[in-house]
Amino acid sequence: MLPASGQEIEIKVRNASISYNKAGDKNNPVIIFIHGFPFNKQMWNPQLEVLGQKFRCIAFDLPGYGSSETAEEISIEYYADVLDSFMHMMQIDKAVICGLSMGGYISLRAIVKYPERFSKLILCDTQCIADSDEARKKRYSTIEMIEKDGLGPFTEGFMKNLFTENNLQSNGSYVKEIKNTMLSAKPESVTATLKALANRIETCSNLNDIKIPVLIICGEEDKITPVKQAQFLHENISGSKLVLLQEAAHLSNLEQTELFNKAISEFMIL
Ligand code: MLT
Repeated sequence: MLPASGQEIEIKVRNASISYNKAGDKNNPVIIFIHGFPFNKQMWNPQLEVLGQKFRCIAFDLPGYGSSETAEEISIEYYADVLDSFMHMMQIDKAVICGLSMGGYISLRAIVKYPERFSKLILCDTQCIADSDEARKKRYSTIEMIEKDGLGPFTEGFMKNLFTENNLQSNGSYVKEIKNTMLSAKPESVTATLKALANRIETCSNLNDIKIPVLIICGEEDKITPVKQAQFLHENISGSKLVLLQEAAHLSNLEQTELFNKAISEFMIL
């Protein structure tokens, strides 16, 4: 198990109940963490535990995941709106937003719609492109597979892309935890999100408008959102900082926790 962290609280926004963990002093600068697909807020426990000593850290479950429920259709657009409403409910005007993979897609969409909400942006193992036709087709065949066979085969296949070969083989506690998270996700949320991911719009054409400090982190062995996508973000967001982590794949915050947290700590005090 990942170490438990913070305090679980629930609020209502946009036809959803949002559950979140928090750590750190209310007077410290705020970092809001957005998880990837198909995980939940617990994937940020190692960040809340350590970074919560210096910053006010909040990780919430996107509607449909963990303990957050929704009556709305899932889309990246909806999730960006949820972020804005969540901040409103929490009485947080502006924050450092940190999103991993789908969390990054949401952040990149939210910064277009709600730029005033962002003081800094942290993009981890993510990209600005939309799905290619081929990727879209694959999402739809995955939906069919989940509808037929449940989450088991999907989880087995997806796990191989999340971690380095070594980390998968060692099967440490966070590898097991992520597998359990995936297996216990709601199949209908997973299939709805696959549709949302297939239909998301690109945000590359908005990168030039980002005028706040941006940190980009990517595991060198990431196969889902590879280093070349992180480099593209870096080249197109002026003044951004790029940190590549060795011996990490897609879930670099878990595979290289210390270096990941260090990169964020340093970026926060810039
Ligand atoms: C994620 O980790 O959020 C997903 O792998 C993103 C994707 O499939 O595009």
